[in-house]
Amino acid sequence: MCGIVAYIGPRDAYPILLKGLHRLEYRGYDSAGICLLNNDIRVFKCKGKVSELEEFVTGKNISGTIGMAHTRWATHGEPNQINAHPHLSQNKTLAIIHNGIIENYAVLRSELKNRGYQFASDTDTEVLIHLIEDIILNEHVPVEEAVRIALNQVIGAYAIVILAKEFPDKIIAARKGSPMVIGIGEGEFFIASDATPIIEYTDHVVYLNDEEIAIIERGQDLKIKTIKNKNQTPYIQKLELNLSEIEKGGFDHFMLKEIYEQSRSIHDSMRGRLHVDQGIVTLGGIQNYEQKILNTKRIIITACGTSWHAGLVGEYLIEDLARIPVEVEYSSEFRYRNPVLSEEDVIIAISQSGETADTLAAIELAKSKGATVLGICNVVGSSIARATHAGVYTHAGPEIGVASTKAFTSQVVVLTLFGLLIAQRKGTLSKSNFQRILLELESIPAKVDRTIKLNEKVREIAHIYKDVKNSLYLGRGYNFPVALEGALKLKEISYIHAEGYPAAEMKHGPIALIDEHMPVVFIATRRGIYDKVISNIEEVKARKGKIIAIITEGDESVKKLADHYIEIPDTEEMLVPLLATIPLQLLSYHIAVMRGCNVDQPRNLAKSVTVE
Ligand code: AGP
Repeated sequence: MCGIVAYIGPRDAYPILLKGLHRLEYRGYDSAGICLLNNDIRVFKCKGKVSELEEFVTGKNISGTIGMAHTRWATHGEPNQINAHPHLSQNKTLAIIHNGIIENYAVLRSELKNRGYQFASDTDTEVLIHLIEDIILNEHVPVEEAVRIALNQVIGAYAIVILAKEFPDKIIAARKGSPMVIGIGEGEFFIASDATPIIEYTDHVVYLNDEEIAIIERGQDLKIKTIKNKNQTPYIQKLELNLSEIEKGGFDHFMLKEIYEQSRSIHDSMRGRLHVDQGIVTLGGIQNYEQKILNTKRIIITACGTSWHAGLVGEYLIEDLARIPVEVEYSSEFRYRNPVLSEEDVIIAISQSGETADTLAAIELAKSKGATVLGICNVVGSSIARATHAGVYTHAGPEIGVASTKAFTSQVVVLTLFGLLIAQRKGTLSKSNFQRILLELESIPAKVDRTIKLNEKVREIAHIYKDVKNSLYLGRGYNFPVALEGALKLKEISYIHAEGYPAAEMKHGPIALIDEHMPVVFIATRRGIYDKVISNIEEVKARKGKIIAIITEGDESVKKLADHYIEIPDTEEMLVPLLATIPLQLLSYHIAVMRGCNVDQPRNLAKSVTVE
């Protein structure tokens, strides 16, 4: 996510802002910038790290006791100097920094272009500051009123800070959907995405609420109003968290924070793409390749690790929905086995980091054979995002924990949207089924929240099995890739050997492993080939295996058979992976913590395998 920080008070702003940016680096970013006000408005910004910004401003005029700074996690527009924040209005009297996504920026941008505005960047943020300038010039209102009017025209999420050259003693801030904290010191104010840049100066904070605007003026009390122009009394709280806790949002580890973020990250993966009211799905990033996809005789998905598991779910989804044959390949195998490829083939490369060497090599091989290569990445402007012909970003936000969690569910969401979009174009899904799945997909973030509430129950089960040496994960159909993903999570952070299998494979060997020391995790939700999974559970039970079952809420049959069960909300069969994976993420997390493992940086692992 982007990071914002701002300051107004008696001190030099620059050192406070720079330190604030360093505090926010953990959020993940690809460019940084700073704006200082001192009778003039100065913006310094560059691609890369905060340390590169520091070098960039060396020798420049960094005076001023009011300013703001930003670390950008690119969502619209490549990570580069032009697209970095802050952005200036056309007349260079206003500056803005922004964390979030303005969904209707394209419409606003074309309206502003018709009114003679030019744009230097590809960002949604620059559109907003031009809109604010336009309102000031045409409606002759103060900057805070222009911000309020503009925000009533914006659809999307924002945490913004605005500085105005004409008002060097004023900061305007506002938020909706993206976090913002205001620190209140002695005659000084701090604004940031979270409390990490603030906590060393003051522990008195105000958490701005959605659709609130803060007007901060030197020497005056904080004023807050809603975008509907209703004054709000600032609710000042005392910060209880320490620095390292704040970086993890109060969670003990990034992995747990990221598991808990999945309701929002799944929502963000659908934002602007799932249009239930209109009964359509749009994926702007691949719209120029839709015909190519419709004409292809097969789709090959290539990825590694967890992304490969998402690809397996994608195989079931795309074949189910769009009736196009799909093959899923480990990138490391695909790149060396001289696969038969042609111009007719469509390849989908899936990668959270967008830097996995084997997947990058698989992409180059496919392109060299004339295939069309699409990407599903989480990092905007990453190598894989740039190497593919087109693609779809997952918008899951930075994933810091080495074990991939929210990226997996976001990849599955994008693959679901992809399958639905192609099914809609090909007419392989009835209108009623299509609409039913869209409605259910829209309900998933709320069901994810309900599933995460099972955390305590999962922790109790983890405590029983934290010392096992082996475990099996079994599932059928859409839940087979979930079984693989659950097993990978356990082995990579707790170092317990775990294997995932299609449940029916038990009879072909693995059942020899079953005894009273072997916990077997069944994903046994009621949809799909449910009865057969019941038989598999009975086979394991007959051999004294310990059964941990992920079941559909209210399923009484499996409860009688399992030693432990975790009930998740019911949903469409094809959407079960989005929910069933969560208790498995939590199970592996708690077992790893109980075993004293380094959950966020497990031994021998890197977040991105950029070497072969
Ligand atoms: C998953 O928890 C692991 N961190 C690993 O398997 C990862 O999914 C794999 O290395 C692929 O990474 P990518 O998605 O960034 O390409």
